[in-house]
Amino acid sequence: MGTNIFAKKSRENSIFRDERFLYPEFVPEKLPHRDAEIDSLVFALKPITEGKKPQNSLVLGKSGTGKTVAVKYVVKELEEFSDRAKALYLNCFEFNTRHGILTEISNFLGEPTPRRGIATDEAYTKLLFALKRAKFTPIIVLDEVDQLMYADEASKLFYDLLRVVEFEKARFGIVLISNDFSFSSKLDSRVKSSLAHQTILFEPYNPQQLKDILRERAQYAFFDSAIEKETINVAAAHAAKLGGDARIAIECLLRAGRLAEKENASQLSPEHLQQVFAEVDASGVKKYVSSLSEHEKALLSLVPSNGQASTGELFKKYSSSVEKPLTERSFRAMVSKLESLNLIRAAFTEKGVRGRTRKISLMVPKDAVLKYLD
Ligand SMILES: Nc1ncnc2c1ncn2[C@@H]1O[C@H](COP(=O)(O)OP(=O)(O)OP(=O)(O)O)[C@@H](O)[C@H]1O
Ligand SMILES: [Mg+2]
Repeated sequence: MGTNIFAKKSRENSIFRDERFLYPEFVPEKLPHRDAEIDSLVFALKPITEGKKPQNSLVLGKSGTGKTVAVKYVVKELEEFSDRAKALYLNCFEFNTRHGILTEISNFLGEPTPRRGIATDEAYTKLLFALKRAKFTPIIVLDEVDQLMYADEASKLFYDLLRVVEFEKARFGIVLISNDFSFSSKLDSRVKSSLAHQTILFEPYNPQQLKDILRERAQYAFFDSAIEKETINVAAAHAAKLGGDARIAIECLLRAGRLAEKENASQLSPEHLQQVFAEVDASGVKKYVSSLSEHEKALLSLVPSNGQASTGELFKKYSSSVEKPLTERSFRAMVSKLESLNLIRAAFTEKGVRGRTRKISLMVPKDAVLKYLD
């Protein structure tokens, strides 16, 4: 009898110490270059540890700037530090109705509520009842919260949460996360001052910062001698070019590492990275394109892959390609949104006769976009 084929395989693994350190959901112990943002979150939530009311925050930044991971990290630390705090994390891609979110919160507060079969106002009443009995201060994290704006119920939900915070005198912390910079302008001013009391901005990472982040993660994920020196620099440069997105950088290392392992290579090299770039870039497209509104999709489909279109040209094309075009102002908001998702680049040109205009180009492969547009 030969050696067990799995034993043989695991002996061959010479690249990864533990690839789980590169998984998207992994929350590391250290988050380089996010000290100030983490401090702001700590400051907002710290009152909970003293039995006081926390401050609500809106976390805003482009895709892959570490918003989700930073919030998860802070909340985890807080829960470890104090019994008074317990967090519920909801991704609004998954929970996108007022009803769904209210019942999730009630369930979390220990008041089991069926998801179906009860009226939404009843769900709200149950939530309040549960909240008054809760022995801890709940922190509700609504990630990708701009997804709620597609449903008309968003404003009602925000008003429910506002009531909880303002009138019921309940201790209740809210963290909203979004990559849509026009999000806060869509909130009514009372909701904004109460639910988005402070805005914490996450700037895109520069190549050096991406290198530091990758080095930190790679140290746990790979064996020390299993990664060629230049590899991290190349991955960081690639992600920097695509808008400073750490997700892309990490995903490249993971896939390239798997490739190196499959090839039985002794080291992970920049050549392995080159082979996975296209695949990783396309996977980023998938995540966001499928969730865009019809108008955003129409706009995206018109952006040229090479060469650049001006905002004015695109607006004209867009207006004649859809049935009920949005106003130019809303059109510009869509441009900003696609930009913050790292799908397009919108650079200002030199000042010309008609003032400063923006040249818009696609940042991701056109065929990947077309594939996910419908
Ligand atoms: N400072 C950092 N240190 C270590 N890892 C980081 C850091 N910033 C981001 N990451 C990692 O990069 C990936 C993307 O981060 P994250 O998911 O938090 O981005 P995001 O801002 O929430 O993006 P999106 O708007 O697309 O949801 C994750 O795997 C995360 O762990
Ligand atoms: Mg996120």
